This record gives sequence, structure tokens and C-alpha cells, in this order.
Amino acid sequence: MIAEATSALENEFNPWLAAEARFNEAAEKLGLDDGMRKVLRSPAREICVHIPVLLDDGRIEVFTGYRVQHSIARGPAKGGIRYAPDVSLDEVRALASWMTWKCAVVNIPFGGGKGGVICDPMVLSQGELERITRRYTSEIIEFIGPERDVPAPDMNTNEQTMAWIMDTYSMHHRQTVTAVVTGKPIDLGGSRGRTEATGRGCLIVALQALKRFGIEPSQARVVIQGFGNVGGMAAKLMARTGFKIISIIEYDGAVYNANGLDVNALMKHRQETGSIVDFSGGESIDRDEALFLECEVLVPAAKENVIHSQNAERIRARILCEGANGPTTAAADEILANKRIFVIPDILANAGGVTVSYFEWVQDRQGFFWNEQLVNGRLEEIMVNAFKDVTGYGERHNVNNRTAAYMLALDRVAFAIKLRGIYA
Ligand SMILES: NC(=O)c1ccc[n+]([C@@H]2O[C@H](COP(=O)([O-])OP(=O)(O)OC[C@H]3O[C@@H](n4cnc5c(N)ncnc54)[C@H](O)[C@@H]3O)[C@@H](O)[C@H]2O)c1
Repeated sequence: MIAEATSALENEFNPWLAAEARFNEAAEKLGLDDGMRKVLRSPAREICVHIPVLLDDGRIEVFTGYRVQHSIARGPAKGGIRYAPDVSLDEVRALASWMTWKCAVVNIPFGGGKGGVICDPMVLSQGELERITRRYTSEIIEFIGPERDVPAPDMNTNEQTMAWIMDTYSMHHRQTVTAVVTGKPIDLGGSRGRTEATGRGCLIVALQALKRFGIEPSQARVVIQGFGNVGGMAAKLMARTGFKIISIIEYDGAVYNANGLDVNALMKHRQETGSIVDFSGGESIDRDEALFLECEVLVPAAKENVIHSQNAERIRARILCEGANGPTTAAADEILANKRIFVIPDILANAGGVTVSYFEWVQDRQGFFWNEQLVNGRLEEIMVNAFKDVTGYGERHNVNNRTAAYMLALDRVAFAIKLRGIYA
């Protein structure tokens, strides 16, 4: 019995099965024909490389890396590269397809891709990480490029990693090609506003959702899981807009203040102590229970599979704004729908990041850089339009927002494929 339950949960947490479940439902509702389903479901290209790297102690180690291009129907593949010990081809495949749907939801001219290297960045030096990055880049060099596939940072990779990829690619091409990756340092062709973009996108769609319920930001209690790039920026920008951030949840604890936390002070406290616990501006509460606080907006912005079949019933938020990728399992969707929780699905809610990555790519190709106001204004326009497209689609087809987002995305990609014609 226990083994059965464990394997059911394992299946529920498998990213590829989760992506399939959402895909199948949307494809069914759209009435897509069998051939188109096969095309949309299959990644266009999967690359696996085994890369020898010189370690600091003089030994050679061989690491395995992947790059999956799920679709290039609407433009170059786009998606991050992650470094982690548990990276798998299944995971990279699922994440690549998510990128295709995400770019289609916000209607930017990219397909979807994802990459990863199986390694443990915690035990590797900067020099070793640089050598892994450069060798991985050189192994996939024919398949990436501004017109082919544009990587970005993901788990355990950052703007330094992107600078190394850009440099390696540029050395081989005998010219500086900044548009080969996004998420670069500003001084190497990065975009203003990129660091805040995903959190800002969450704020923009949360404001749209609140408007539908007639709730003023000052009346909105917010709980955020994850105080990193996405959660930290969302907290800062939401607090600045007047939301009451009543709880922040981290991996080592949670803080609570019914009157709203001082987010900047909490950031300073974490910088100084390395943790959000023991913050004088709030009380420490149980991190597992904090997810179930009553609130208007819950923002899971830490990791995948935090809301699942075993705990979805306990969520007491009016709006679920998915900052993380895949924070809700497919099995939890129905429970949330029955509870009439307004879900802003990840492929919409956290698409602000890829949208500003698109702006970065455009600016690099133009060689002309925008000020932050222009970046933020254009981001807002795209996010508001995408929110309206998804909710409007849901209303017209009588489906929830997640299904609507997938249907809209599949429909857009299928339409592009049909217009181009299938070279079969
Ligand atoms: N950074 C982006 O632009 C971006 C864009 C789209 C989606 N995402 C997704 O958002 C999520 C977060 O990304 P990020 O860039 O903010 O990462 P990050 O590493 O900057 O932040 C994640 C934070 O979550 C915390 N955390 C980890 N496990 C936790 C747990 N069990 N409970 C509570 N807190 C926990 C970490 O300590 C960290 O502070 C990921 O799912 C990522 O794929 C990020």
C-alpha cells in the first residue's frame, strides 16, 4: 500500500508526466488531429553530450549535458540551462516544452528549449564551472545562436555563466555575438529590468486578477514562498504597490506579520544573518503551515510540486499566482478548481522573465539599448494582453485558466506550423 502511494506521488511529481497531462487535456479540448498532436508533443531535437573537464586537482572528469529544442516553429528555441546533480533528460524535455507554451502565451517570437549539465555546483570551483560551461558550449555550438537557440540562466547558473557562453561562442565565430544568450551582465549587452522582470510580471498579473474581484491592493494579503530572485522581487514590488506581505516562507523557516512585513528590512536581515528567521519585524511560524494561511494572493516562487493532491485542499488563497515553474501538480488542479481558487498558471504568471529576455535579444540585435521605463512599460503591455488573452479564452471555452493558457499556446503554435506547412 505504502509503495503504491509512493509511486503514485512519484508519478504526480514527474515533470514529463505533468507536462503530458496538461498537453493532453488542451489538445483534446482543441480537437487537434493526431498528426499535429504528435508534432507538438515531440521535441524537435535532443542533444546529449559527454564533456571531459579538467578538475583543479589535475584529474579529468566527464560530465553529461543536454540541450533539448522542443519547438522552433515560431522562432529560435529559447530557454535556460541548469546545473544540478539530478538533471535528467525527462526533466529537460518537459521544461523545454513548457518554454514553447510560455513564449506562445505571451506571444513573443520564440520556440522552446532547455539545457542542463549533471554536476554539483556546490562542490565545484569557479574555474571548474567555467571549464564545464565553455566545453558544454563548444559541444552544442552548431545548434545555438541568435537565430537558432538562445539559452539563458536557470537553476545554479547566472549572468557569469552567460558571459562565459557568450565569450566561447564569440571566440569560435571570430566576432562578439551578444544575442546568443540572454540574462547577461548589463555591461555585456544585458537588459535593464531583467533582474526584476519575473517578479514584476507576477505583480502585473496579480493586479489584473485583483481588479476582477474588485479588491484594492491595500486590501490584499500576500503569502510568498521563496525569497530568491522571483519571490524577493515580487515581494519588494508588491509591497511598494501597497500589498500587505503577511508571510514569507523560506527553506529554513517562515516569518509572519498580520500588518504586513517590511520587505526591505527583511532583505537586509537576511543579508546580515543569512536567513529570514529571527526577524524582529515579524514572528517566526512553521514553514509548512504558512502555505495554508488565509490570504488574497499566494505566490509559490521557490520550486516545483509544492501544491499537490495531498495538500491542495488546505490552500486558503483567493488567487494563486505561480511564480515558480510547475509549483502545482496536475492532480492538484482539480482540487483548486473545486475550491474556486483563481489560478494564474506558471506559463503566464512567470513569463515576465522570458519577455524581458526577448527585449534583451532585440536590443542586442539592434545594438541600441532601452531605458528601464521603456522595458517596464513594454513588459506591462505584454503581460496585461496575455492575461486578457488567457482569461478571455477561458471564458469563451468554459475552461479554467491553466487549460485556457495551454489551449491558447497550443493553438498559436499549431497555427504557425499549419501556416508554414509540415515538411514531412
Ligand atoms: N529567475 C527567473 O527569471 C525565473 C523565471 C521563470 C521562472 N522561474 C522559476 O521560479 C522559481 C524560483 O526561481 P528563482 O530564480 O527565484 O530562484 P532562486 O534560487 O533565486 O530563489 C529560490 C528561493 O527559494 C528558496 N527555497 C528553496 N526551496 C524552498 C522550500 N522548500 N521552501 C521555501 N523556500 C525554498 C531558496 O532558498 C531561494 O531563496 C523556479 O521554479 C524557477 O524555475 C524563475
